[in-house]
Amino acid sequence: MKPAMTSQAAHQAGNSDGPWTVRRVLEWTVPYLQENGSDAPRLEAEILLAHARGCPRIQLYTQFDEPLSDDQRNVMRDLVRRRASHEPVAYLVGYREFYGIEFHVTPDVLIPRPDTETLVLELIELARGKAAPRILDIGTGSGCIAIAAAVNLPNCTVAAVDISERALEIAKSNATRHGVDDRIDFRSGSLFEPIADDRYDFVVSNPPYVVKTEIDTLQIDVCKYEPRLALDGGGDGLDVLRQLVNHASRYLTPGGHILYEMDSSQSDALCEMISADGAYEGVRVIPDLAGRPRVVHAHRKAD
Ligand SMILES: C[S@@+](CC[C@H](N)C(=O)[O-])C[C@H]1O[C@@H](n2cnc3c(N)ncnc32)[C@H](O)[C@@H]1O
Repeated sequence: MKPAMTSQAAHQAGNSDGPWTVRRVLEWTVPYLQENGSDAPRLEAEILLAHARGCPRIQLYTQFDEPLSDDQRNVMRDLVRRRASHEPVAYLVGYREFYGIEFHVTPDVLIPRPDTETLVLELIELARGKAAPRILDIGTGSGCIAIAAAVNLPNCTVAAVDISERALEIAKSNATRHGVDDRIDFRSGSLFEPIADDRYDFVVSNPPYVVKTEIDTLQIDVCKYEPRLALDGGGDGLDVLRQLVNHASRYLTPGGHILYEMDSSQSDALCEMISADGAYEGVRVIPDLAGRPRVVHAHRKAD
């Protein structure tokens, strides 16, 4: 392991010419990633090293004194260099866990966030009592919401829409991998365009909601590497949410639910928008685990 070493990293690696064991590589990598902006350098170093060695992360703990092969060292050196340039770990290793399920991800899809688990948890709670819930997921990306719902609600069916064909390919492969592709109908197009006259018990979405001019102020990991299409919510961040609110009632069964993720700063504006539409009632905000308002819920008025 000899990428450009900082003085601190060089010090930590020591001058010994001993083999690059798992322990020694971790001791070198952790401070290097930390100096280059990582918030979780130990975890990231372990994920990258497990990927380079082709083993589960937990196995590293029984391999501390094992040396890396030349190939593994080359792979690890490249991964560490790319991570130090802010390339997200999930893209480097090709997966991210969400709701206890592993999702394949590439730079064509947003990396699933723990924040979105709040929406999924609520969806599953609300849908669990229904015999055969029908769910529409707009902007499915990696498919994380649609697939987590299908895995946890064996009687549900899902339509999952995305405007990005490449994202849909990833979502389909994730659905197949988790054995729910027979209950998810993936459709290509913008918002409700590919839906025709179907009716759903739930319309859910984690849409793009970042204010356009603020995208370049986000962490480099996000603004340089994640798809703009997944982030850009227009001038006030609410462009897509506005359309979701205005059009969803047409696709909902009476009493059917909307569940939309938002930025915590958008809570008041979104609640007002939903109330002003006139088609919904019971507007409420659901906080995430940190207590921030992140999901809005309402249901369509009965006819
Ligand atoms: C914030 S990402 C969410 C992805 C995934 N649902 C998740 O929670 O990780 C938003 C997704 O919406 C898609 N998208 C953007 N505009 C769209 C539109 N007009 N119609 C359908 N999908 C759209 C993007 O391609 C992206 O996959």
